[in-house]
Amino acid sequence: MTSVNACVLVVFGGTGDLTYRKLLPAIYSLAAKNRLSEGFALVAIGRRKLDDEKYRRTVEEALNTFSGQAVDGEVWQRLARQIYYRHFEFHEEAGYAELKSFLAGIDANHQSSGNRIYYLAVAPEHFQIIVEKLQLQGLTQQDSGWKRVVIEKPFGRDLASARALNEKITGVFGEENTFRIDHYLGKEMIQNIMVLRLANAIFEPIWNSRYIDHIQISAAETVGVGTRAGYYEQAGALRDMLQNHLLQLLTLTAMEPPAGLDTESIRDEKVKVLRSLTGFRPENIRQNVIRGQYGPGGRTGRSMRGYREEEGVAPASTVETFIALKAEINNFRWAGVPFYIRTGKRLAEKSTQIVIQFKQLPAVLYRQEYPDLNPNVLIIRIQPKEGVFFQFNAKKPGMEQGITPVGMNFCQNCDYEGNSPQAYEKLLLDVIRGDSTLFTRWDEVEYSWMFVDQIFEAWQGESPNFPNYSAGSWGPEEAEQLVTRDGRHWRQLEPADAVGEIEGLKD
Ligand code: BG6
Repeated sequence: MTSVNACVLVVFGGTGDLTYRKLLPAIYSLAAKNRLSEGFALVAIGRRKLDDEKYRRTVEEALNTFSGQAVDGEVWQRLARQIYYRHFEFHEEAGYAELKSFLAGIDANHQSSGNRIYYLAVAPEHFQIIVEKLQLQGLTQQDSGWKRVVIEKPFGRDLASARALNEKITGVFGEENTFRIDHYLGKEMIQNIMVLRLANAIFEPIWNSRYIDHIQISAAETVGVGTRAGYYEQAGALRDMLQNHLLQLLTLTAMEPPAGLDTESIRDEKVKVLRSLTGFRPENIRQNVIRGQYGPGGRTGRSMRGYREEEGVAPASTVETFIALKAEINNFRWAGVPFYIRTGKRLAEKSTQIVIQFKQLPAVLYRQEYPDLNPNVLIIRIQPKEGVFFQFNAKKPGMEQGITPVGMNFCQNCDYEGNSPQAYEKLLLDVIRGDSTLFTRWDEVEYSWMFVDQIFEAWQGESPNFPNYSAGSWGPEEAEQLVTRDGRHWRQLEPADAVGEIEGLKD
């Protein structure tokens, strides 16, 4: 394996959940695969008063807990020598001045060539101040080595705040050095959507309204809000999942073939999809967007609290933990094809998938005799199982007549879990290499906020009847009706342990 560019990864929020759970395991995994240059160093910045040694011990503990693999002593010893910790408050000028000389020392020791990645793994209210202070200290100048910034979501809380934030950040780093991270884009099967569509002769010719009846995009979670109420009370499912992850899935599923496989050609096509989504009118929104909040419930014998009873949640909170919507893409390829999208916390299964349901054949020949013949269905499984499932009809074996649905199943991670690199691993490597294909360009963020803002506007002044679904269920009844009133139904999501030839045929 070749190692990549030398650089210092400066992580603001060095003792935060995201850093311990995702970033450090991803860095460890890259180190174990020999993907990090010897000129790589990590400087974590946090408010807790730790020194390098104590911080390294917390990292080792986190790796043992979250990396999902046995930590190799030799790899860890090597990596530990590349990890440092500084503590200061993010608004404190002196902290940045000290950081400047510290980084100069690191550059000299590790030959990291002045290349820096500033990773803002902090609450969004700190984004702006950190960027300002870095600039004031001259830590963002591109003259001696490149400087990149990675911004975690949420990128703003509506279009106006996202614009203000964007001006600030790109004013300092420029668009090409601004990496807006959406970890869904690092998932293996999401990168596979384009390959599936555009590297196979059989799919692209039928990937349109002539052959496709509708598309379902679901991201169901079993977890509740956990310890993140402070953040989630400000976000809700619409900002937390739909504005970013689910709209990204939609764009990749619906976009036109790009002019090339380069970053900008792909992003250009994704933006066009988002632009075609803007035809929502307030009266449509009320009918086509369903929100929900979980109440107390249970699953597999375990009782679970309602959202309003979770720690840090307001007792009369109207924040949505579930959203389902029906969208249409007003362009030549998709006019008339509904896209049903749903996501929620405390649902019955953890599963993310895209279902492409094809149109029925005309009611002649077999369909005349078997009017209930199943339509063809293609399912792109994103997690926990990764793969592609295709359902088609075949003759029932034997002497009798009869037709039965059968399936072809490609399971990418069945042989052993963890053979796909984790999303953050892939994305961090891309930032180090300077490849921003799997990051969101500003206009993608802009149009996705335009879409989501319309929904917030329609909700203004209305108080939802929450809670409206039980923890451990499939969400509110109205979400079912959103689909059944069109004569369709949500495709059942597969539990993590169900794998087999006919698993997609349950419903
Ligand atoms: C995050 C959201 O972006 O994605 C979380 O903030 C959510 O609320 C998570 O749980 C889901 O990610 P994944 O990779 O587990 O599907």
